[in-house]
Amino acid sequence: MADFDISATFIPSLHKPASLLPIARHRQSLLYLIETNPVTIVIGHTGSGKTTQIPQYLEQAGWCGDGKVIAVTQPRRVAATTVAIRVAEEMGCKLGEEVGYSIRFEDVTSGKTRIKFLTDGLLLREALVDPLLSRYSVIMVDEAHERSLSTDVLLGVLKKILKRRPNDLRIIISSATLQAEDFLRFFGRDMTVQLKPAAPDAVTLDELISQGGANPKSVDSTLGGPVGQIISIEGRMFPVDILYLEAPTEDYVEKAVQTVFDIHTQELDGDILVFLTGREEIDTAVQAISERAAALHPRAQTLMPLPLYAGLSTEQQMYVFEEAPENTRKVILSTNIAEASVTIDGIVYVIDSGFAKLRAFNPLTGIETLTSTPVSKASATQRAGRAGRTRPGKCYRLYTEASYQLLEEATVPEVQRSNLAPAILQLKALGIDNIVRFDFITSPPSELITRALELLYSLGALDDYAKLTRPLGIRMAELAVEPMMAKTLLSAPSFGCLSEILSIAAMTSLGGNIWFHHDGEKKKMESARRKFAVEEGDHITLLNVYQAFVTKGKKEARFCHDNYLNFKALTRAVSIRAQLKRYIERFGISVDEALSSNPNKHVLAVGGPDKSEQIRRCLTTGYFAHAAKMQPDGTFRNVAGGTVLHAHPSSLMFNRKADWVVFHEVMETGGKTYIRDASRIEKGWLVEYAPEFYKIR
Ligand code: CDP
Ligand code: MG
Repeated sequence: MADFDISATFIPSLHKPASLLPIARHRQSLLYLIETNPVTIVIGHTGSGKTTQIPQYLEQAGWCGDGKVIAVTQPRRVAATTVAIRVAEEMGCKLGEEVGYSIRFEDVTSGKTRIKFLTDGLLLREALVDPLLSRYSVIMVDEAHERSLSTDVLLGVLKKILKRRPNDLRIIISSATLQAEDFLRFFGRDMTVQLKPAAPDAVTLDELISQGGANPKSVDSTLGGPVGQIISIEGRMFPVDILYLEAPTEDYVEKAVQTVFDIHTQELDGDILVFLTGREEIDTAVQAISERAAALHPRAQTLMPLPLYAGLSTEQQMYVFEEAPENTRKVILSTNIAEASVTIDGIVYVIDSGFAKLRAFNPLTGIETLTSTPVSKASATQRAGRAGRTRPGKCYRLYTEASYQLLEEATVPEVQRSNLAPAILQLKALGIDNIVRFDFITSPPSELITRALELLYSLGALDDYAKLTRPLGIRMAELAVEPMMAKTLLSAPSFGCLSEILSIAAMTSLGGNIWFHHDGEKKKMESARRKFAVEEGDHITLLNVYQAFVTKGKKEARFCHDNYLNFKALTRAVSIRAQLKRYIERFGISVDEALSSNPNKHVLAVGGPDKSEQIRRCLTTGYFAHAAKMQPDGTFRNVAGGTVLHAHPSSLMFNRKADWVVFHEVMETGGKTYIRDASRIEKGWLVEYAPEFYKIR
């Protein structure tokens, strides 16, 4: 062991040098463009180093002088956290010091933070407190090609801010695909910016030319000088063979698993990335792969299936970046998170189901679902590209070439297919009253705006002139939960159940990750769940779980283990609840915790019938638009009548009788629409708490 080189053993996970990334050649030209233009648009393949390197270049070039901060926004939380971890590692600092991240309910930054990764939604929220986002010298809107609702709203808001801070704010838009011109045209529309001479240490144009690198394109705005430029970082891409199915498959999850084994037994080394649509599919596939891999020849190379989706803890998400042990092939099963926002090295084979879960808002029913939708050609190309980063690869499309030809060219931006109520509430709180005239990069359909205004009005957030009400509307915008839950929380004091609603709000924002079981323990988990269950529905059941965890269970892992509960999720609920409580207290509302601190009132004892009724009435004040009536066949119809809704198998309303319910959210799987977190209500309450809404119909 004498000549064992310790430093070498520590380097492997510390990556190939950043100087080898495609972006490194463009460092000077990038800095020059950013120095001399208000807006710089950077396009380049995924993995070329945009997200991890640009903020470091900026920091080194002095953009963090005077205590200023560089913000990098991400549409996905997973990307914000994993990228921050990576950059902190590269800069050799502790996460939360020079490099940090901030996502809803989780702020890992400090006074020292110079590079901050955050979701675009959160940056918008910061604008409520600091309307010009004055602490930032550079704001990089990353993954702009995804065109998430928050990205689009943020772009409009940034354009306004830029008009007020033409000299000291720089905006970088980074995008994996070629929509760059759209972004530039957007910033050029009705805007002229004349920059003061560049700072003394700026790169000169001569230096730029002598490098011969970038070939920046400028687009003149109609009224004045160029507002921005486009720079393209061409990284090397290796050829990717595309293979299609000869005939369509009925079950792409099973087909994906089979393809994994075909690759594993017939192809050379290299990791596999599988695109599926959501947690359930991914868990099914992970399990199938583990089971079947056990049956492989004992001396064969092993398969290591790893899930990647939004509900995982940060720790679990980081596994996919680690190198697989020797003689092991990694199989990463991911939602479209891995399409562009995170880069995983070592992928040579991509299996593309051809589907992704996308938000879809139906203005007729007023319900927003996450619906499995065929991807666009742009997405399919992007997915295939993940196979050719380090050497030639293969992409297996689990659909026919003919169906590929029928795909849309590009995915419709979220602003054209989402519930706009949260976005409009935020815009109003930022003082942007005329939503129809707001400068969206792509305008939303007026129908969606109307529906959102109607809902906000019925919730009491807007008055007859569509102005934000005080204090209700303002407070709803400030609370970090969606408008229906915000309203529920703010109604709770008058029903005497604020403490309980805080717990329910925290539990529902976990997104259904509360129960946990190992293989073959499903029955036991079900019976554990029954211990907490109440007739009135899922919300109060969730409340029972929460209260049992914090009182009888003393917030301990042991208790969760015994009850098939997810300890991490419940710990997170405790933290979310504390944060929501702080918001509420900041409004000067006090929270009476008498009930939850009474140790004799835990499981099944949430305040008896009266308390339960108050809680459900209170939920109705926020969720009246999510009301449904049970049909004789056990399914539900929403109020508008059109949609057949099924109780989710994890819901108490599954196989039980109820007349009317309100529900938290809707999800679609296998062509069926499920409601999750539903509770019984009385029909009369709907008219009592939402007379306008039910009159409008
Ligand atoms: O943003 P872009 O897609 O252009 O690339 P990036 O995310 O900055 O990634 C640059 C390189 O960093 C990739 O090639 C990955 O090898 C590496 N990376 C990583 O290993 N782990 C992460 N969590 C993020 C990036
Ligand atoms: Mg990136």
